[in-house]
Amino acid sequence: MSAGFFSVAGGLLLVHAVLLLLNAHAGQCGCYKRIFSFGDAMIDTGNFVQLAAGKAASSKFKEAPYGMTFFRHPTGRICDGRVLIDFYAEALQLPLIPPYVPEKDSGQFPHGANFAVYGASAMGEGYNGHNDTVTSPWPLGQQTTWFEEMLQRIAPGGNGAKVRQILAESLIVMGEIGAIDYSSWFDVGGASEDAVDVIPDVITYISHFIEEMILNQGAKAFLVPNILPMGCRPSYLSRFRSSNHSEYDENGCLRWFNDFSQKHNQALAMNMGWLRRTYPNVTFIYADYYGAAMEFISNPGRFDIGDPLLACCGGDGPYHTGGECNSTAKIWGDPAHFASWDGVQLTEKAYSIIAEGVLNGKFANPPFPLRC
Ligand SMILES: *[C@@H]1O[C@H](CO)[C@@H](O)[C@H](O)[C@H]1NC(C)=O
Ligand SMILES: *[C@@H]1O[C@H](CO)[C@@H](O)[C@H](O)[C@H]1NC(C)=O
Ligand SMILES: *[C@@H]1O[C@H](CO)[C@@H](O)[C@H](O)[C@H]1NC(C)=O
Ligand SMILES: *[C@@H]1O[C@H](CO)[C@@H](O)[C@H](O)[C@H]1NC(C)=O
Repeated sequence: MSAGFFSVAGGLLLVHAVLLLLNAHAGQCGCYKRIFSFGDAMIDTGNFVQLAAGKAASSKFKEAPYGMTFFRHPTGRICDGRVLIDFYAEALQLPLIPPYVPEKDSGQFPHGANFAVYGASAMGEGYNGHNDTVTSPWPLGQQTTWFEEMLQRIAPGGNGAKVRQILAESLIVMGEIGAIDYSSWFDVGGASEDAVDVIPDVITYISHFIEEMILNQGAKAFLVPNILPMGCRPSYLSRFRSSNHSEYDENGCLRWFNDFSQKHNQALAMNMGWLRRTYPNVTFIYADYYGAAMEFISNPGRFDIGDPLLACCGGDGPYHTGGECNSTAKIWGDPAHFASWDGVQLTEKAYSIIAEGVLNGKFANPPFPLRC
């Protein structure tokens, strides 16, 4: 009895000591108090449905089965449940980060704001390098303009000291962004070989906006994710189906598109190296979404996922594509056993695995600063 009591007390003391230790470090590195995030559908939490309200393109996202898993109602996420930014907020013990657009005139955003929009490209309308194939109305440049407008509103004043103070306590999640630049290129029938020429331009855009935030607003910490293996995307597997077996890798993904994703990712990683050398006082965490996703693509059983190349919500076509995911689409099973939600975007299950890989695993470099 008393031995039991003492071991419990000892345990409490130990917990207390650990908490003191954690607190001791809190002042030094400072936990992030806010997240500001930029990107595309992968982390849009409600901007697109607001921006495109009334348009056919957005209405399906406001209906079941979107949101069926976690929120149990549609939220504007292009997913059955939570997306990556939700898991990052939870990990930093912040409330879910609100989408910017619905609150753009009044929100104080004490824990940050999410500027990501479904369909957003890195490059803007002014981009003319390759026949202006990018037509996203809310590209990264628009999102960073909203960011500046928000800062002017919540931290007004001359010298920007208040803005710098906010940014010093904030984590910027820069992406994933860029995948749309490539998919829009493929969508208009742009030659695959030429798409490689677009990569340096996409990287230049991402890097430019990162530098602007460092120089103009005093941003101190970035999480910069790379892009997923596009050759494992059900919509591409269906659209670019081939009878030539050597076009597929050992997981059944299209080799060429995965190689292409890797080329973008290598260029992004190189750019991170340059940014780190140029801004030694800024933290750049490179998040390897490609590597984290390959875990469930190459070993789905470990995560209780069935075939990771099949969409959960879609049609009767190959890889469960051939129809959009809308209120009358077929749900092929419990989303917890699927990696792809609608043939392009991932399920909450897949995002939870990627987030785990970034937050606690080996897919963030340097490791994600979860604790101070
Ligand atoms: C780009 O424009 C040129 C000249 O108009 C045209 O010849 C070429 O086919 C276009 N390329 C693509 C990918 O649209
Ligand atoms: C099959 O694909 C491989 C790899 O892309 C290519 O080298 C080969 O020429 C293709 N074979 C045929 C018959 O198209
Ligand atoms: C980096 O931080 C140090 C110490 O706070 C400071 O002296 C130095 O000016 C900073 N360098 C840059 C490039 O901001
Ligand atoms: C859902 O999409 C399919 C095409 O895939 C279409 O035929 C159907 O009318 C759509 N349902 C609704 C409710 O819009």
